[in-house]
Amino acid sequence: MTSIADAANPLSSLTDKVAVITGGSRGIGFAAARELGALGATVVLVGQSPENLSSAVSNLIALGVDADSICVDVADGEKVSEAIGNHSLALEADILINSAGVMSEKMAKTLRTSNQEWQRVMGINLDGTFNLISAIGPQMAQRKSGRIINVSACLGRFSGPGLAGGLAPYRISKTAVNALTKNLAAELGNGSRGVLVDAMCPNHTRTDMGGPDAPRSPEEAADTIVWLASREHNSETLTGLLWEDRQIVPW
Ligand SMILES: NC(=O)c1ccc[n+]([C@@H]2O[C@H](COP(=O)([O-])OP(=O)(O)OC[C@H]3O[C@@H](n4cnc5c(N)ncnc54)[C@H](OP(=O)(O)O)[C@@H]3O)[C@@H](O)[C@H]2O)c1
Repeated sequence: MTSIADAANPLSSLTDKVAVITGGSRGIGFAAARELGALGATVVLVGQSPENLSSAVSNLIALGVDADSICVDVADGEKVSEAIGNHSLALEADILINSAGVMSEKMAKTLRTSNQEWQRVMGINLDGTFNLISAIGPQMAQRKSGRIINVSACLGRFSGPGLAGGLAPYRISKTAVNALTKNLAAELGNGSRGVLVDAMCPNHTRTDMGGPDAPRSPEEAADTIVWLASREHNSETLTGLLWEDRQIVPW
């Protein structure tokens, strides 16, 4: 199978590793699943549409990837806990990629955002990230081994493009995902206890969310995710950070 990762930038093999990828049925999450599969990982896609999951799993299997799926709304903590608990591979995953996400309504400036819209976006983008970490993270911490990569967004930063206002629930959900990342990384000793926790910005990407005119391909967006998931871990490894194009960027 051809892979951007192994053509241009050799990455470590992920044979015998299991990766759970929320939002893996489409867009950036699917591209990440394909690349992780190309490196030898077994991938478990998490999404809410059975049709999208089934089509994504079939596509991956056709490419030679060992793939399975879990159909659950990431915003529902009880159902996530139950679904992951019933899936022995996902429960013991080595890698967790939180890519499931939704954009706010275009007019969602703070004073025009309904309570329902606020809850919808926070529920998927922020609670969804927390729910998967709660279901899988404790086993990683116990084994002293794991990678958690939260797909954030430039719009959630306290710098650069994050300062313009608008799209309030989306921006603030991603700012909170950044805070969750930093907090969890500190709680896990910033890598000293074997679990790496990072956030990344994919940039404007051609997906259902980003639209057809976005400058980046899903594969380009997924590159940093795959690099974070497969990089070596030693005493020099930097973690608990926000990454873009394999570089650290300010929160
Ligand atoms: N695209 C961009 O320009 C861009 C830029 C910056 C950051 N991001 C971030 O990158 C991530 C991926 O975005 P994308 O562009 O790949 O989006 P996308 O193409 O719209 O795909 C969204 C994915 O999230 C899943 N999802 C949505 N709601 C869910 C729920 N309640 N439960 C489970 N799964 C759910 C979808 O599953 P179904 O198929 O089941 O609906 C789908 O797999 C998001 O977190 C987004 O905020 C994207």
